[in-house]
Amino acid sequence: MKAFYVSLKPFLNHGALSRPTDWAAVFGNGHPVEVEIGFGNGEYLERISRELPQVNFVGFEQYCERIQRTLRKLSRTGLDNVRVLRLDARAGLERFFLPKTIALVHCLYPPPWPKKSDAKHRLFTGDFLKLVNSRLIDGGALKIVTDHHPYMDWVRDNIRDTGFSVEFKNIPAHYGTKFEKKWVEGGQSEFYELLLTKHQHIPVGIKEDSVLQSYLINDFNPDNFSFNDYSHEGVAVSFKEILYDAKKKTALVHVIACDGPLAQNIRIVIAHSPKGWRVNLAEGTMLMPTMAVSQALECVYLAAKKNVE
Ligand SMILES: C[S@@+](CC[C@H](N)C(=O)[O-])C[C@H]1O[C@@H](n2cnc3c(N)ncnc32)[C@H](O)[C@@H]1O
Repeated sequence: MKAFYVSLKPFLNHGALSRPTDWAAVFGNGHPVEVEIGFGNGEYLERISRELPQVNFVGFEQYCERIQRTLRKLSRTGLDNVRVLRLDARAGLERFFLPKTIALVHCLYPPPWPKKSDAKHRLFTGDFLKLVNSRLIDGGALKIVTDHHPYMDWVRDNIRDTGFSVEFKNIPAHYGTKFEKKWVEGGQSEFYELLLTKHQHIPVGIKEDSVLQSYLINDFNPDNFSFNDYSHEGVAVSFKEILYDAKKKTALVHVIACDGPLAQNIRIVIAHSPKGWRVNLAEGTMLMPTMAVSQALECVYLAAKKNVE
């Protein structure tokens, strides 16, 4: 099969990016910066970056395949005013943007998590709105478009004390994104647009990286390895599974590390070495070094130690 050539220049490896980021240095100019959260297949991001060459765009998306499709689209335009990161927008705004540095944040069709029991996964909580507020310049704005009326009502309920004033309107489909087309094909003709304008600054500090320690243990037994869920002051760690390669004397432990709503799937290696068994993060793990990741390393270390006592 013939390879499809794309420019990888718009894709930033967030692990290698300094935090908070000097976006003027990344783009090579001091143009205003706008952010799109959850750009999906990139139809809208490609369009606005083409229509507004004097604006720099940063996109956050979680799915690799969608980022690949977006890179293909961006390759066709060849513009240099857009960068994309495979990163949860919560970590992106908390760690990569200084306060008062973004002119406009766009989010089209955030997952509505319609079931009552799933509502805890929704993005635009009061805390997240305060974070967005703090990263916006004075007078900056957040635009949210949704297909789900209850989601719009929920966002409106969260606005109190977030420093935003809100305008909302019913709109026809006109963004042409993959998900919008899907709803239109399903018969929906009315959508909901919220424009939240910053009128008061809400300070939210930059989140610092946590130091990630590696551990050494004398002995290790992979049989029956597990640990109970850990949860303390917004940090939670849960054990998922362990794989063990007896020939290489190496275990790979899968855990989920959560800092509040920011959940990261991480892999921790327990590998035999001449000095003992080393407990480290797996190489190539693209994660944010948060408190929960640091705690996950400690949980795996303590469980490994206990398993041989
Ligand atoms: C329903 S899709 C909409 C995609 C696109 N905006 C469109 O209209 O076709 C929601 C997208 O948001 C992304 N997403 C959800 N939560 C996110 C978060 N916290 N940070 C970054 N992306 C997120 C998902 O990966 C998904 O691609």
